[in-house]
Amino acid sequence: MSILIKNGRIITADADCIADIVIEGETIRAIGKDLPFNAEEIIDASGMLIFPGGIDPHVHLDMPFMGTYSSDNYETGTRAALFGGTTTVIDFILQKQGASLQNALDEWRSRANGNAIGDYSFHMAVTDFNENTKKEIQHFIEEEGITSFKTFMAYKGALMIDDRQMIGLMEEVKKQGGMITVHATNGDMIDYLVQKYREEKKFSPWYHYLSQPEVTEAEASERFADMAHYTGCPGYIVHLTCEGALNAVRNATRRNQNLLVETCIQYLVLDASLYEKNFEGAKWVMSPPLREKKDRETLWAGINQGIVKVVATDHCPFKWEQKLMGKDDFSKIPNGHPAIEHRMELLYSEGVHKGKISLNKYVEVTCTNPAKIFGMFPRKGTIGIGSDADLVIFDPHEKHTISVSTHHMNVDYSAYEGWEVTGKVKAVLLRGEVAIDNNECKIEKGFGKFIKRNKVSGKI
Ligand code: URP
Ligand code: ZN
Ligand code: ZN
Repeated sequence: MSILIKNGRIITADADCIADIVIEGETIRAIGKDLPFNAEEIIDASGMLIFPGGIDPHVHLDMPFMGTYSSDNYETGTRAALFGGTTTVIDFILQKQGASLQNALDEWRSRANGNAIGDYSFHMAVTDFNENTKKEIQHFIEEEGITSFKTFMAYKGALMIDDRQMIGLMEEVKKQGGMITVHATNGDMIDYLVQKYREEKKFSPWYHYLSQPEVTEAEASERFADMAHYTGCPGYIVHLTCEGALNAVRNATRRNQNLLVETCIQYLVLDASLYEKNFEGAKWVMSPPLREKKDRETLWAGINQGIVKVVATDHCPFKWEQKLMGKDDFSKIPNGHPAIEHRMELLYSEGVHKGKISLNKYVEVTCTNPAKIFGMFPRKGTIGIGSDADLVIFDPHEKHTISVSTHHMNVDYSAYEGWEVTGKVKAVLLRGEVAIDNNECKIEKGFGKFIKRNKVSGKI
């Protein structure tokens, strides 16, 4: 199949031009003005922006967590991602403590294989680092194409590892050519505060917020930075939310350390006042929690200063019935919120349209940097000859309203209900196939491919 996309304004991390794109099979064959190709299908993209397919490197699909499962599976989650212009996601496999990494990979594969509509890859979350786990790291990097290893410094008693395990894992991962990603908050301190509020019979979502103060994140980010510096292991902090944590990273850069930072769309556009809505605040119970307005401003600045490299979602949706598991106790509310579908449009509207970031920066943090950092570039994350034809055709002027009644995620509320956004995904191509057109998904479950990733250096 060949497709010619005519007259779109092509935006990459470092280019901005009006040109045609020729696609043959799964990849881009040519880019230029008035290309003399006869294609089987012609798409007129006049007046439209064309971005590379979005890459969301932080999602949780069908994940067993806090006594339940996140409500989007590979089919519904990757379909919703495509509607929002995200063509590739990276999900997290969770090792069971006492079991092998391979065991966890097999379990995740059985959920993803044949079900994904969009492309996907995996990070491996190491929750039990020991001599056996150590022996598995090389195989994951060399053979499975899983080159990033997630660690939790929080969720004590469930997913958290201690610093001894962290150092051991870092040494092995560095040796084999991988990277450590981290949920950097002080798990002991949070555990103490959660118990304290429960004993004081303070059970509303507001106390979820108070039990994870900024210092828990700032302290752990600094500690992680120091351990990564000491071991020389490439490091990436996921879902960084606040000024204190960003300053810890800024300090690390002064010794020429490359510490990569991701924030998520919610931390740029929402704030902790939402927890004042009594139990409705459960919709935004996530870890780390939403922060203050000053933190939002710090994060926007961090993007423009090049310290925040990626805007992801940490998509981890739960239906209202699941959130009700914590109606009498905030510590039982499943943590996470639905956003996989809205990242690209929200960031465009709040960031580019409102003048906070440039168009090139937008592509950099949503597409190009995730591809480079996680070993998928230039196959993914850019518009170039030979790259996968993952493309988003975007109307920068169309206004629309986000609502549960129109979204495609498998969740019965929207965390952004009634938000007016400017800019809309009109069509999406995935590996040369029209995936979304005219508000319809044109590809079936099973189309999504597992993307093996390359070794990574922690430098981009
Ligand atoms: O609240 C969150 N973030 N839920 C998903 C798990 C995690 O910590 O990323
Ligand atoms: Zn996390
Ligand atoms: Zn997460």
